Amino acid sequence: MQIDKSRIMKRKHLIYLLLCFAWIQSWSQSNSQLLPIIPKPNFYKIDSGSFKIGSNTQIWAEPNLSNESKFLKYFLLNNHQIVPIPSTKPGNKIVFRINQSLAQQEEYYQITSSSKQIIIEAPNATGIFYGIQSLIQLFPSGKYSSIRIPLVQIKDYPSYSWRGMHLDCSRHLFNVQFIKKYLEMMSYYKMNKFHWHLTDDQGWRIEIKKYPKLIEIGSKRNGTMVGHYREQKFDTIQYGGFYTQAEIKEIVAYANKLHIEVIPEIEMPGHALAAIAAYPELSCSKQATQVGMRWGVETNVFCPTEETFTFLENVLTEVMELFPSKYIHIGGDEVPKDEWNKSEFCQQLMKEKNLKDAHELQSYFIQRIEKFANKKGKKIMGWDEILEGGLAPNATVMSWRGELGGIAAAKMGHDVIMTPGSHCYFDHYQGLPATEPLAIGGYTNLEKVYSYHPTPDTLSNAEAKYILGAQGNVWTEYIKTPEQVEYMMMPRMMALAEVVWTEKKQRNYPEFLQRLSQHIPYLTLKNINFSKTNLPSK
Ligand code: ACM
Repeated sequence: MQIDKSRIMKRKHLIYLLLCFAWIQSWSQSNSQLLPIIPKPNFYKIDSGSFKIGSNTQIWAEPNLSNESKFLKYFLLNNHQIVPIPSTKPGNKIVFRINQSLAQQEEYYQITSSSKQIIIEAPNATGIFYGIQSLIQLFPSGKYSSIRIPLVQIKDYPSYSWRGMHLDCSRHLFNVQFIKKYLEMMSYYKMNKFHWHLTDDQGWRIEIKKYPKLIEIGSKRNGTMVGHYREQKFDTIQYGGFYTQAEIKEIVAYANKLHIEVIPEIEMPGHALAAIAAYPELSCSKQATQVGMRWGVETNVFCPTEETFTFLENVLTEVMELFPSKYIHIGGDEVPKDEWNKSEFCQQLMKEKNLKDAHELQSYFIQRIEKFANKKGKKIMGWDEILEGGLAPNATVMSWRGELGGIAAAKMGHDVIMTPGSHCYFDHYQGLPATEPLAIGGYTNLEKVYSYHPTPDTLSNAEAKYILGAQGNVWTEYIKTPEQVEYMMMPRMMALAEVVWTEKKQRNYPEFLQRLSQHIPYLTLKNINFSKTNLPSK
């Protein structure tokens, strides 16, 4: 009896496995058909026929999806002049439906289409939003009273949970309107983390009510480097600006609607000259200084005194109230130890705390800030230099000097974001320097970005789980205008979006370029100054 039962079970399992295999085969074979979606969905097929969106189309959404439903309605109105009808009238339907049974994969969505209805299902509003972003990438460009889209069946979810873009607003400042456009560009390609670099040597950009001089003094510089660093030339034009707390809230709320988390970066203990110009008592020398005008690394850094920690804790308290993200980025990169090695106070502190060198002092600095942040319910993240002298127990590492820092951190059981300069720095040249606008250096063309894979082969499966994803960085020493930001980020961000979303085995550069060419009307319509340097027609 026992034997017969187990045989039947085995046969059932075999049939089930064969069915699964056939299902996967049919979906992956159909992936050879080109769907103009970036990032490419992981499973899709295209059926014959089409769905017509026009004046008799209803959008039907549960009440808790009204934000998502409005998003699609505005898109149809603004880009196509189509106004869907109220849901009480008969017509074809686009339905948004929360389905908890799909919750096994984070950020999952699926689209089921027939000529009568399109159903977008997901376990939460974020998945529904991604379903909408995929759907609208199928719309033809141009203002028509009705549009037809192919009947697609999609099951999709991202490879990585951290799909980040960074923007340096210290070296050059970009207004609220542009930050919103930046977020829109990100969300169209399902990027979900905005790392906002708000403080650095050349300008403090976030209003902190308790320390008004950060704005009065720290947000203005008396000139800016012109041309290449090696030329050491400066203009004498005062440059400044900042975001009020009300503006920050507006941006965070806007990002939230686009399902983007905003992570503020408050740099410490280095890249702090703007704060020190405002409050010189925060440095070891305590001497008056100016907000930075030249690019590079300054030796004048925060001194690890009680006064500095009180200042930083007060600043972070205000910052944490503005940003709901569980993360605070505390920088930690490029901290010359010259001032600390010269300072009697630092030497004494190192003796007292039994720290063997200035690297351990930096680790002490970061660990104190981490304790404070953790107590407030936040996690810290920092550039890979925070590994030096001992990593803070709960910190997440952003690996920028290649991947070695990220690999070391993952092996120690710390979360990691990969953002190596070689593939993820969008301030690098994307073409021959002679034919490109002045940039900081490097060479990272579109294909190189596309070739990136965030999980190094050297990690075991268990260690690989710590790689949360990757991020593109836009440092703005040589990027002064919104148009130039767009030129440097697009289309490289589109390549990175596919790297962090689409499974490695599905990625194919020539085919990506084909899909990219179908996005040009949209980029043009949205007035995005994308670079054509790496596009095939060049
Ligand atoms: C960095 O590029 N200094 C993190």
